[in-house]
Amino acid sequence: MTTSRAPHPSARGAELTRLPAYRSTDPTAQHPDGVIDLANNELALPPLPAVAESLRHNADRVNRYPDPTARTLHHAVSRHFATGPEQVVVGPGSGAVLQQFLLALCGPGDEVLYPWPGFDAYPLLVALAGARGTPVPLTAAGEHDLPAFAAKADARTRMVILCSPHNPTGRRIPQTELREFLAALPPHVVTVLDQAYLEFDEEEDTSDLDLVHARPRTVLLRTFSKAYGLAGLRAGYAFAAPDLAALGRRTLLPFSVTRLAEQAAQISHDHPQQFASRLELVRSARTRLCEGLRAEGLAPLRSYGNFVWLPLGAAAERFAAAALGAGVRVRACPGEGVRISVGGDEAHRRVLTAARDFGPPGG
Ligand SMILES: Cc1ncc(COP(=O)(O)O)c(C=O)c1O
Repeated sequence: MTTSRAPHPSARGAELTRLPAYRSTDPTAQHPDGVIDLANNELALPPLPAVAESLRHNADRVNRYPDPTARTLHHAVSRHFATGPEQVVVGPGSGAVLQQFLLALCGPGDEVLYPWPGFDAYPLLVALAGARGTPVPLTAAGEHDLPAFAAKADARTRMVILCSPHNPTGRRIPQTELREFLAALPPHVVTVLDQAYLEFDEEEDTSDLDLVHARPRTVLLRTFSKAYGLAGLRAGYAFAAPDLAALGRRTLLPFSVTRLAEQAAQISHDHPQQFASRLELVRSARTRLCEGLRAEGLAPLRSYGNFVWLPLGAAAERFAAAALGAGVRVRACPGEGVRISVGGDEAHRRVLTAARDFGPPGG
């Protein structure tokens, strides 16, 4: 008897099957062996006390649906940044908000440029929208190659995604270069500036939304997952000109932002002092981690995020294996380098033990 594989129910199904799965560690397998996870750029601190209290308070209301369009979150963001609600888009995480814009603006025949290596979800979300993704390699210094982006942007290019501070290198795009680049882009191209890690950059003013006014085809993408430490709750947002923002709201999956997430995000804005001192903790831990790695003969890049990048090239996986051996999981980008999230003292001690065992990168 011959067996033949069942055909895909649709051409789209066949296309989806070919997509790479999102790379991640299995959260259920994270801790049984005592391994500390520094592979996901999470905040290594527990929620603010007021957020934890709100979660307890709202726990017995989960039989009720949340607001389908997350108006509490929408207005909280608009109030906090003193911007009109018509310029705000919210969603269950900034990855979801990016998807909302991709679904609203891009489809078959459109091209989306994004930096690479970059956030693993970019190629996936672009493909899910049916558009064609074109990765634009970073420079050898781990920076965006803006001239290469400009050279590739043509009539088919619908969107350019930039990320600053950049995941995984932690480098940021200098303001002057960014503004010159945006001003020279053809008007049919929308730029999404992914600012998931912006709050960790002490030199950035997070309340400055001028880019949206300077070039109205610009979307600023933000999240509560990183600096606010709400990754497990899913709340993200974006700023854009009113016509663009209206499109980003159209594609929000109704009820996808939970009440727990809305409340926690709103409360997070009410505690600016606690927030600022946590950011300071992360920045000084980042400095210590870099100094420790340098003392072991490695060359981490100056990072503006809550993570550190070691450009180890072909030795990336060997370092990640050494780290796992020392009880800490880091993210290897094969052939490129290793990204290490900023963690607590014990996690850093293990990373430095791994660095010592690892020896020189070429060894
Ligand atoms: C650059 C970048 N953008 C966006 C996200 C998505 O974050 P979230 O969907 O949790 O807001 C991440 C998460 O790691 C990221 O690294």
